[in-house]
Amino acid sequence: MAMQILVYRIFFVSVLAIMGCQIAVAQPNLGLSGLKPDDDPRLVRLGQQLFFDRRLSFNNTLSCAMCHIPEQGFAQNQLQTSVGFEGQVTERNAPTLLNVGLYQTLFYDGREFSLENQIWSPLLATREMANPSMGWVIQQLQNIGEYAQQFEYFPEGLTPATLGQALAAYQRSLIAANSPFDRWYFLGDESAVSEPVKRGFAHFKRLGCTGCHLVSDKEAKFTDQQFHNTGLGYHRSMGNGALASSFVVGGSRIITTMERFDDRRSNDLGRYEATQDPQDRWKFRTPSLRNVALTAPYMHDGTLPTLRSVIDFYDQGGFEAPGRDPRIRKLSLTADHKAELEGFLRSLTSDEVDHLIELARGETSP
Ligand code: HEC
Ligand code: HEC
Repeated sequence: MAMQILVYRIFFVSVLAIMGCQIAVAQPNLGLSGLKPDDDPRLVRLGQQLFFDRRLSFNNTLSCAMCHIPEQGFAQNQLQTSVGFEGQVTERNAPTLLNVGLYQTLFYDGREFSLENQIWSPLLATREMANPSMGWVIQQLQNIGEYAQQFEYFPEGLTPATLGQALAAYQRSLIAANSPFDRWYFLGDESAVSEPVKRGFAHFKRLGCTGCHLVSDKEAKFTDQQFHNTGLGYHRSMGNGALASSFVVGGSRIITTMERFDDRRSNDLGRYEATQDPQDRWKFRTPSLRNVALTAPYMHDGTLPTLRSVIDFYDQGGFEAPGRDPRIRKLSLTADHKAELEGFLRSLTSDEVDHLIELARGETSP
């Protein structure tokens, strides 16, 4: 009898284990349970087609995907700040769109609230896609027979709102959690990450990084959705340039704005630009750290070239600046601690990214 119970138990536990594995495999949002791709796949595909279409820009040269490049973590690895219409330089670094659905506010200054509305910033910005008006964009797309037909998906057809819904549906589908860290932290798989990575996470908590890059028992967004002053924005606006005029990341040379134009960096006031509140000067939204190993260079202006340089930045206590957050302070880390912290940040790269790149490239015409 006891033997029978034991056999049943073993059977039961193995079924659970197999189910557990399946859940792990089929769960791109492991660690970000709040994110669900609930949009109709037809709408996601339409949004994807638009995302890769250069005809969304005024002179048909620039698509969303050219600044948010799938193979570069849906960001841009070779440029500190993006280059848009007719070679004009934008003020900020192109952020990743992986897991962008987790943000309550969009952009480094939080000036937008929904992916549906956000599209009009790049579509109309003169330094980005440079379209003269919303009506212009809609008219151009109406003239393309296949879009007019595909937008019959909506009873109201192609409008500024439905264009936003399609592009938002695609971006919300870019869910890339389920990293080695998640399998360790949320599923208890001790072999998912190495011991140094576990120590790196312990430093991350001990040093107070989780005060802004939040991790809870249920999910890990790695952002508090708030705006903070690390001293970087102030430092740059006082005319202190990049640490180097060009640098190499992943075999590619990054060209800095300074090198290209030798101009003075404009004074980017961050959150203040959305609120006009003097308290908000040089505050920027805390970015999620998921997939951060894929999205160099770092910070709102792309002036920190590698993860190690970001860690060095925190180690030195950011930059001296009025209003700098008191939690940004000198840390005096050892070389081992820095390496472990970096290993932990690298363990946040999702297993889903390759699949998302394949989907992005496979289903779109060149
Ligand atoms: C010229 C390069 C460029 C193009 C083209 C471009 N973007 Fe961006 N994108 C950026 C930059 C730079 C930012 C950051 C701007 C800021 O914070 O003010 C950004 C920010 C965003 C954000 C906010 C992400 C976040 O974390 O808050 C979203 C969403 C986005 N872009 C989607 C799109 C979509 C959709 C398109 C096409 C309609 C597009 N982008 C076209 C460069 C570009
Ligand atoms: C007071 C809040 C706060 C604390 C504490 C904090 N961060 Fe940040 N972190 C930010 C903000 C805000 C940014 C974006 C700054 C910018 O764009 O200029 C950022 C950016 C980063 C980035 C770059 C991400 C990217 O995509 O550009 C990394 C990596 C990072 N933090 C890691 C850490 C680590 C490691 C610690 C602990 C040593 C830490 N942070 C502590 C708020 C914080």
